[in-house]
Amino acid sequence: MENDVKGVLIDATTLQKRIKELGQEISKDYKGRNLLLICVLKGAVLFMADLAQNITIPLEMDFMDVTSYGNSTQSSGEVRILKDLSSSIENKDLLIVEDIVDSGLTLSYLIKLFKNRGVKSIKVCSLLEKPARRIAKVDIDYIGFQVPDEFVVGYGLDFAEKYRNLPYIGVLKEEIYQ
Ligand code: PRP
Ligand code: MN
Ligand code: MG
Repeated sequence: MENDVKGVLIDATTLQKRIKELGQEISKDYKGRNLLLICVLKGAVLFMADLAQNITIPLEMDFMDVTSYGNSTQSSGEVRILKDLSSSIENKDLLIVEDIVDSGLTLSYLIKLFKNRGVKSIKVCSLLEKPARRIAKVDIDYIGFQVPDEFVVGYGLDFAEKYRNLPYIGVLKEEIYQ
């Protein structure tokens, strides 16, 4: 698995340091509010778990499973719901937790969907953003790192469902996905 990676883009220590900062910022901003973290499965699962442990105010968690990539390296542009939220989001202050915003299509689809369900507020926290390939305009309120236009895997991010368990963000060798 490690042999398929060309190099480490963000190592585990750097990831955890930034996640701690994000957690502190979110704890301050959401004090006294109805914070509900929404994890966008499956990519955001590791980030969500670490982020939540760095948030020091009461919160709830829910999970939404959507997919737009399948086994391809390019977004199909069509987002499918594989699992919806399990609780009502009425009057909640939603914070959508993503691993990466690339075209922005997944996020803009989710924001539109949640806005129709009577939420109090919606914000977005993404560990990574890849500005080079944005199609849909979306505001990201909390960003961990900007990444270049390369195929990144690890720490939740997959290629064909593999590499999610790497503890760092790495760049995949071209020959793996070409
Ligand atoms: C990936 C990633 C984001 C989304 C970002 O999910 O985890 O959710 O794509 O891409 P976009 O901005 O171009 O929409 P994917 O659909 O691969 O599902 P997964 O999280 O289960 O891997
Ligand atoms: Mn995802
Ligand atoms: Mg994926």
